[in-house]
Amino acid sequence: MSKILSIISSPRGAASNSIKLANAIVDKLREADPAAAVQVKDLTKSPFPHLEETHLNAFFTPVEKHTEADKEAIRHSNEAIHEIMHADVIVIGAPMYNFGIPSVLKAWFDHIGRAGITFKYTAEGPVGLVTGKKAYIAVATGGVYSSGDAAAADFVTPYIKTFLGFIGITDVTVVRAEGFAIPELQATALDKAIDSIVL
Ligand SMILES: Cc1cc2nc3c(=O)[nH]c(=O)nc-3n(C[C@H](O)[C@H](O)[C@H](O)COP(=O)(O)O)c2cc1C
Repeated sequence: MSKILSIISSPRGAASNSIKLANAIVDKLREADPAAAVQVKDLTKSPFPHLEETHLNAFFTPVEKHTEADKEAIRHSNEAIHEIMHADVIVIGAPMYNFGIPSVLKAWFDHIGRAGITFKYTAEGPVGLVTGKKAYIAVATGGVYSSGDAAAADFVTPYIKTFLGFIGITDVTVVRAEGFAIPELQATALDKAIDSIVL
């Protein structure tokens, strides 16, 4: 039975375009594999903390030397890494906020990037350790970034793809719902994006 981890980073609930698009991807995955189990992780309901000194100390202290404070500080990171390691497919809903990703999504990534656990450095350079996964990024934007002058200002998809690739997730499909701030495009933007989903 495959496991799908669906990540929500928009606080807009039922009104969210990235959530609707991510849900459409999950629906298609379940059509293809009805036995698939889905875990939904809403980063806006229980946000991961910004990395503070306590988290970094715990990351870089060997487990056998962890104090109670280190164990508490590293709890979020261990939970996030366990969930991503045990998923076969990861669907990330990503609204564009000021050309980048919402800070709740960045905070989650910050707890996942751990040397020796999700990646390691070798003589040949960094090697990702989260392998054998497939990821989909469901991006929602007010403008249009798939082509034209604004494409260079899309720091959502290159960033997420770079981060996922760094930890070993290289099979990544981007699905874009774009133009929600453009009157001529907004009514059809979501349907167009859903129609474009290719598993
Ligand atoms: C705080 C904030 C910042 C935004 N910044 C951008 C932006 O830089 N570029 C853009 O095209 N749209 C921007 N938008 C529009 C959103 O990307 C768009 O409304 C999208 O549908 C939001 O995703 P959601 O519907 O899943 O919440 C912004 C929206 C908000 C609320």
